[in-house]
Amino acid sequence: MPEKRPLYGIICGYRHFTALAICISFFAIEGYLFSSVSGKTKYYLYKVHILIFVEVMFYQFSKLVWKELDKLCPEVFCAEKVWRGMVASFLFVAHLGPFCTFYMSKDPTMLGVMAWTSFAALLILSLSLGFFGALFRILNRCGMSGTAIAGICQGRLRSGICVLFTALYIWTGYLNATTPPVIIRASIPIAKLPASMNGTKIALLSDIHLGPTVGFSMMENAVKITNSIKPDIVVLAGDLTDGTVEELREAALPLKDLDAPSGSFFVTGNHEYYTSDVENWFEFLESVGFHILHNSNVKVHSKQNKKDWFCMLGVDDKEAQMMGIRYEGHGVDLKKAYSGCDDKHASILVAHQPNVAKEALDSQFPIQLVLSGHTHAGQFYPTALVVYLGNAYFYGLYQYDATSYVYVSQGVFYYGWPMRIGSHCEITEITLISS
Ligand SMILES: [Fe+2]
Repeated sequence: MPEKRPLYGIICGYRHFTALAICISFFAIEGYLFSSVSGKTKYYLYKVHILIFVEVMFYQFSKLVWKELDKLCPEVFCAEKVWRGMVASFLFVAHLGPFCTFYMSKDPTMLGVMAWTSFAALLILSLSLGFFGALFRILNRCGMSGTAIAGICQGRLRSGICVLFTALYIWTGYLNATTPPVIIRASIPIAKLPASMNGTKIALLSDIHLGPTVGFSMMENAVKITNSIKPDIVVLAGDLTDGTVEELREAALPLKDLDAPSGSFFVTGNHEYYTSDVENWFEFLESVGFHILHNSNVKVHSKQNKKDWFCMLGVDDKEAQMMGIRYEGHGVDLKKAYSGCDDKHASILVAHQPNVAKEALDSQFPIQLVLSGHTHAGQFYPTALVVYLGNAYFYGLYQYDATSYVYVSQGVFYYGWPMRIGSHCEITEITLISS
């Protein structure tokens, strides 16, 4: 007699139900609802959507972690309760992470940082357990289930190794991510740059990601580090924020102290569009001294000879026109951005995503240097592998052809989870060399 399956099993299996919920969530909300609303409603819908998506996915991870960590439960009455209480608390705090995007203050709260760190730990722990599980199944199929390595891949030993690995990974990643940004220096030859502008210094800041785990104090420190290199120009290459001006004005205020005699410039990143508050951010940034490069350009003149100049142009982020966002009047328009620049003068483009940098260099427009960000150099593993494969340039300086270059910043800070493995928080000092 076959065993009776529980109700959710009859509906087609819990995993299938989860996958279905995720698909419906994406297609129904992004495809239809997001296109028919705007402003604050869109922003809050987007956050609720991400919350549901992440919580559903991480619920599956939590079930796995609860089951696996129970194998490490000490077989003593009181210790058993303490252990299970600790695991339950860890899972509870981890699940609070996405909720913290609904409360953003001048500086991150301790609960917010703990929640996002636990959230990252839950991800790494689940992936490492999943890795051992997959390895065990492969060994089983190869008829090696009785070997020592197969023994490690199951039971208490596997759970213990994964917990230790996660603790070490998260601790190292947290310390690395919260270390102040390092200054990375690059000298780049620029064809047609006037001799009077040789040595012009650009401070490139990208991916600050003001939000639940990055706030005023970190922003203030980044501004101090930037001013210490005495730049002529500051470029803010997108993803400044993960919230609205109303939520993060105070956190962003240190930007007014940036000192760049030849100008400070801003282009949007994809995350600006997720806030649905781009116009208000433009207004705020202009009030603290930024020129907005919204598919536009500015001629940067030499301090010694006012007749000498190069063109600084910037394009909007490509996700402005992505399904579900469709931000009216925004999107990549290189032709418009280049209008007024010419091939007798050097042109430096700011484009948030490296894929747009590649498209611009492949185009008819003569551009000598593109400044980008977006990748965070992967921020941590295994996401770094996906980022590497999904972007034309990963991080650092690339030479496109004899006279064109791309520089991709690792980002001033990080997105969400305070964790970096295999990359650093970076402020870039770029020196332009007349060639
Ligand atoms: Fe980005």
